[in-house]
Amino acid sequence: MTTILGLSGSLRRASLNSGLLRAAADAAPDGVTITIGDIAQVPLYDGDLEAASGIPAAVSALTDQLAAADGLLLVSPEYNNGVPGVLKNVIDWMSRGQGMAAFKGKPVAVIGASPGNFGTAHAQSHWLPVLRMLATRPWWDGRLMVSRAGDLFDDQGTLTDTRPAKSWPNSWRALPGPSARAGRDRHRPCRADRARPARHGAVL
Ligand code: FNR
Repeated sequence: MTTILGLSGSLRRASLNSGLLRAAADAAPDGVTITIGDIAQVPLYDGDLEAASGIPAAVSALTDQLAAADGLLLVSPEYNNGVPGVLKNVIDWMSRGQGMAAFKGKPVAVIGASPGNFGTAHAQSHWLPVLRMLATRPWWDGRLMVSRAGDLFDDQGTLTDTRPAKSWPNSWRALPGPSARAGRDRHRPCRADRARPARHGAVL
């Protein structure tokens, strides 16, 4: 069994990105489980809070889930062409204490959805130096950038259009298995150069 920790970087009730994560979890192939992490109780990072109280329980829970997982799936909104502070804050907290060890060598994929034309392409690129600093391993055999996403989800944030899901088989082929945790390099050449935001719906 391959276990992936999935984190959506939005707290919004009808979030497109949380909906994308739920859809990805629903579409995971046999033998793969995507566990959706809860970021709602993670406080803003504050060094004084950390010094006084240590790592918050909500952060420790996520770090434990990451340590037990074979990979991490970040479903990231894009804010002002960059990463959203909400999700960066979670990752920053998780990197404290023993958390760095949970990231080290972990395959990480970044996908995302936005109402705009570029489907979080900028934000996905802006995650790269963060993921390099955390010594993660790239898991980007394909790219999933869901553009004009407002038309693809209902008002509850549930994906109602099947087009993004059609690209998932490409991504699943690159899923990290338990062997990845043993240090075997399963990385395959990056095909990002070929990625083009589709006119509508986005992907790979
Ligand atoms: C946005 N949004 C946005 N979208 C985009 O494609 N590129 C961008 O640079 C930005 N910038 C931006 C800044 C701020 C402050 C906000 C609040 C929003 C729009 C954003 O993609 C949209 O609100 C999504 O719906 C947010 O994701 P969730 O909450 O639906 O998952």
